[in-house]
Amino acid sequence: MSSPLPESWPGRLLLDRSHIWHPFTQMKEHEQDPPIPVIAGEGCDLVLANGNRVLDGISSWWTCLHGHGHPKLMAALERQGAKLDHVIFAGFTHEPAIELAARLRTKLPPNLTRCFFSDNGSTAVEVALKMAFQAQLQKGQAQRTRFGALHMGYHGDTLGAVGVGELDNFMTGLFRPLLLRCDRLAVPEDPRREFDSNLDGWAEALEVAQQGIRSFFGIHGDELAAFIAEPLLQAAGGMRMWPPELLVELRAQCDLFGVYLILDEVMTGFGRTGSFFAHSQAEIAPDLLCLSKGLTGGVMPLSLTLATEEIYGCFWADYAEGKAFLHGHSYTANPLACAVACASLALFDEQPVMEQAARLSETMKSAWGRLLDLPGVRRPRILGTVAAAQLVDPATGAPYSSKSRFGWRLHRRALDAGLLIRPIGDCLYFMPPLGTPPDRAEEAVETISNLLK
Ligand SMILES: Cc1ncc(COP(=O)(O)O)c(C=O)c1O
Repeated sequence: MSSPLPESWPGRLLLDRSHIWHPFTQMKEHEQDPPIPVIAGEGCDLVLANGNRVLDGISSWWTCLHGHGHPKLMAALERQGAKLDHVIFAGFTHEPAIELAARLRTKLPPNLTRCFFSDNGSTAVEVALKMAFQAQLQKGQAQRTRFGALHMGYHGDTLGAVGVGELDNFMTGLFRPLLLRCDRLAVPEDPRREFDSNLDGWAEALEVAQQGIRSFFGIHGDELAAFIAEPLLQAAGGMRMWPPELLVELRAQCDLFGVYLILDEVMTGFGRTGSFFAHSQAEIAPDLLCLSKGLTGGVMPLSLTLATEEIYGCFWADYAEGKAFLHGHSYTANPLACAVACASLALFDEQPVMEQAARLSETMKSAWGRLLDLPGVRRPRILGTVAAAQLVDPATGAPYSSKSRFGWRLHRRALDAGLLIRPIGDCLYFMPPLGTPPDRAEEAVETISNLLK
């Protein structure tokens, strides 16, 4: 059961209720059930105002990599704060941004030479979409006014990003009249990521999906400025893990039809899927790459859109030609955020972060596989340190109705048991920080299992 809040909190929560509009929230619910106050972050744990500690099983909206309050990241923030907090980035530059671009170069595919800064995942995507369109326009491909995207994709909440996300869901459907023109392609989930998979017929299904991609480009390829996808893992769409072979096919078709390939690694980047970037598992490179979330280890808002020299070249001209990329945000390349991002990348170089993540993944794999024994769990699966499964009503074998709020109730029960999880509809997932000790992850899966029992 939840412990009571200290007496300073009810008054603060009243102020919260009077003045704050929270994201992704039906605010009416907060009348009865206020947001949960958090007072500290320590390693893989969050400390709630009622004194309870909970394991951050969603890495605070998929951002936190090395754990909360990592001393090296906090020290970098403090050092930079003593020098330069912020400065306009148009016509000016600074050391943390230059160092970040240089550090990242060693981790990127060699074709991605140019680095454009913004401040969240959605804007990284907006930048990529605008760059792709403008580059095509400036090289004489004015008919390329559409985008291609995957069904069940999610790329952020600004209107451009919404336009290339899945349309047929509660978040985006109502904005339909306002959105970019987008053609969508379905890809199957990869049964090889599942614990109880039956691979009979998989080779044929993969061939059909590859053929589907070829047909899609045959129909739409000449009109697309770019195709955007979350490589290997469609996260907000329900932790759909899709096959690298299809990413290879997407790359090939983009090349054949002169369509730019944008990979959105806002969630999958920085070691989450078992490799530093997910796309390297398909041994391909995109033309544009969107990064955010783990870029600063989950400490500061920052994002990057990486582009090829060919794309950069489409904007390179005399001033009077009007070909510059006229886009930028007030906090573009904020020095504090860049300094923390450098410190986070340095941790990957100086400490065995990827090896720890591999060990965490192994432990999660054996623990998560045991969920198969529960009648209310279907299709448990794992990619790197992202574990997911579908929740069903054991009585019927069907997903719970959305009215039953089963996922939300599980979230609340788990919090009382010391774990933060937040199912997406009927998709249960567990994505702790990469630095989570394996025994804590094992305990967390045990907690989930006990709650479901
Ligand atoms: C793949 C992907 N792209 C873009 C975004 C949007 O990022 P932000 O919430 O920082 O705008 C998200 C957020 O979850 C995401 O998962």
